Amino acid sequence: MPRVLTGITPSGTLHIGNYFGAMRPAIELQAGGDAFYFIADYHSMTAITDPAERRGYTQGIALDWLACGLDPAKAVFWRQSDVPEVCELTWLLGSLTPMGLLERAHSYKDKIAKGMSPNFGLFAYPVLMAADILLYDTHVVPVGKDQKQHLEMTRDIAIKFNQTYGENTLVVPEERISETLAVIPGLDGQKMSKSYGNTIEIFGDEKALRKKIMGIVMDSRTPQEPKPDAEKNLAIQLLKLVAPVGVAADFENRLRAGGLGYGDLKKALFEHYWEFFAPYRARRAELVADPSYVEKVLHDGAGRARIVADQVMARARQACGLR
Ligand code: ADP
Ligand code: TRP
Repeated sequence: MPRVLTGITPSGTLHIGNYFGAMRPAIELQAGGDAFYFIADYHSMTAITDPAERRGYTQGIALDWLACGLDPAKAVFWRQSDVPEVCELTWLLGSLTPMGLLERAHSYKDKIAKGMSPNFGLFAYPVLMAADILLYDTHVVPVGKDQKQHLEMTRDIAIKFNQTYGENTLVVPEERISETLAVIPGLDGQKMSKSYGNTIEIFGDEKALRKKIMGIVMDSRTPQEPKPDAEKNLAIQLLKLVAPVGVAADFENRLRAGGLGYGDLKKALFEHYWEFFAPYRARRAELVADPSYVEKVLHDGAGRARIVADQVMARARQACGLR
């Protein structure tokens, strides 16, 4: 059975773009496969330096994933730093990774361009990500387009390691980037992203979220005017994610025909959004009340992840003469 692995960086509060773009597909995959999902807390080191904040986001992401349907009986779910051998593998891989490869990394260049100060962690990030993947004999890594280059680098690094130290030491993962993976738009119509401040959180305060949704800016056409471009309307696009198919189609038709005001449309969007996540919200409240359960899930997950990591590290150390 192919092993599917993905990591989630705890550097913010999850939004519905994360849910529909990454979490739901991953949760669907856990039923049929050998799923390995981890909270990439080492990766958050370059983004956050406040210890309480890191702990809080890590805890929050664990709660969010469990509340949204990650089933620890089906998927292995752990905190990256509970298996610190990933840092050892990072060193073995980094010692074979050409500078040129890292210098070409878009994410590094983008982060520097956005004003982050260059440091070793930021530069070495793709090597740590390669170690995340290679430490667990991963076959498939479901990620969005933004991670495509990191996956190519992972393959290059694995191939180089095997050429240097022996074929079949590391499993070279397949590429499975979904070009068609939906990009969920944010409140301003751009890609929803915590860095653009245009998010609808999965879990949050009802009043604040209602205000955010009611505040979506639309054009100045009157309610009566027909809107032949109804499918492009942001609220319609979001409604299609959270409302039953028929309900969303009905709103779209009414908007197209004329007679539906934007205020009523946004109100419906808020209500369907709130209802869609209601069962997850209830489950999350139960989990919050039982922090030892979440800790136990992550602890057990780390134990299961470590069984694989120990085997791979033994193979890698042997192959390169550390043993
Ligand atoms: P952000 O852009 O908010 O910082 P991340 O880069 O942490 O989000 O993304 C985490 C995961 O969620 C990734 O797999 C990414 O592809 C997915 N994701 C984030 N935003 C969206 C979006 N607007 N539409 C679809 N998927 C998204
Ligand atoms: N870099 C990924 C992101 O920003 C998170 C991540 C870390 C990851 N390690 C991984 C994803 C390994 C897939 C596999 O979204």
